[in-house]
Amino acid sequence: MKLLITGAAGFIGSNFVYYELDKHPEDEIVALDLLTYAGNLKNLKGCEGNEHFRFVRMDIRDRENIYKLFEEEQFDIVVNFAAESHVDRSIEDPELFLRTNIIGTSVLMDASLKYGVKRYHQVSTDEVYGDLPLERKDLFFTEETPIHTSSPYSASKASADLLVMAYHRTFGLNMTISRCSNNYGPYQFPEKLIPLMINNARHDRSLPVYGEGLNVRDWLHVYDHCSGIDLIMRGGRNGEVYNIGGHNEKANIEVVKTILKELGKPESLITYVTDRKGHDLRYAIDPRKIEMELGWKPVYDFNTGIKETIEWYMDHQEWMDEVTSGDYLHYYEQMYGNR
Ligand code: NAD
Ligand code: DAU
Repeated sequence: MKLLITGAAGFIGSNFVYYELDKHPEDEIVALDLLTYAGNLKNLKGCEGNEHFRFVRMDIRDRENIYKLFEEEQFDIVVNFAAESHVDRSIEDPELFLRTNIIGTSVLMDASLKYGVKRYHQVSTDEVYGDLPLERKDLFFTEETPIHTSSPYSASKASADLLVMAYHRTFGLNMTISRCSNNYGPYQFPEKLIPLMINNARHDRSLPVYGEGLNVRDWLHVYDHCSGIDLIMRGGRNGEVYNIGGHNEKANIEVVKTILKELGKPESLITYVTDRKGHDLRYAIDPRKIEMELGWKPVYDFNTGIKETIEWYMDHQEWMDEVTSGDYLHYYEQMYGNR
């Protein structure tokens, strides 16, 4: 099998490349990424020298070059991770999210149809379902929950999902969609909650918690997300959506306090800052469909996973220093300077 993995130098994409090379060493992988601020070739360093792996720097919106690549490579499966992925950035610059997340998806699907790709898999998010009330612990997102978005990011991801389903119905594209909850693990860019808090704590800087820190996220180790996508893209039913999540709901403040405790840092580092605009209250996935149809099961529980993840960042401080220099300093000042 020949796979195209887009967004492969980002957080989940790079973890997925390692997962595939490990579980399916007979497959060939073309890893594509534009290398925006979020993409980092160092994330793929461990693939160097593997004859089944090749990296291509390309923009998923670049129709001409995407077509050339598809013609040359004749992919069996396309997995699209490439996206603008940070909610806070989407509040500052919505248009970029529309161009990458919607137009980029349409170019990849056109190429998939034109060059006979057997399965197109769209990596989506639970954020397309909007949010759940904090006090209703009995409610979960199922695949039937209506799309109801809050941020420009989630609206762009939902638009892409609708387009993927339209390509299935109108053009007969063979496709699946996965909607996962919040991921954590190695190689996550420190604009997201967990690596940002680890990075600030190791420098004894304040930890900016939005609002009162009571918003709830349903955390899943990135390895378990990768195993879910692998099952869906190879064995999932054509035209179907699958939720992925492991029932690890935590309030943000709880996650932040866990990080401080693990690092031996005081809770006095926590600073409550102005809330995110339109901030979703709670996410919680019902994963029964993927469990029952495809036999998916997460291997990580949150306590083990978060400890291992904190250790990873502490063992890779050089990586962290590199990605938090330069443009990151400007981003941090803009986002948190007057908050
Ligand atoms: P990320 O921001 O770490 O990585 C995105 C990658 O896409 C980067 O390497 C970037 O360079 C690349 N990219 C951006 N624009 C591109 C373009 N025009 N052409 C080619 N490459 C481009 O994001 P992530 O957290 O790894 O998320 C990957 C996917 O998973 C996204 O589609 C996101 O919506 C989805 N997702 C993320 C989470 C999460 O918790 N992080 C959960 C569910 C779903
Ligand atoms: O649910 C899946 C989604 O999870 C993915 O689709 C997105 O790509 C991914 O970024 C993530 O979105 P969130 O907005 O939930 O993740 P983030 O890490 O930005 O924030 C997690 C929670 O922590 C959220 O309630 C906001 C809060 N937060 C975040 C940051 C960066 C803070 O309190 N302080 C912060 O500095």
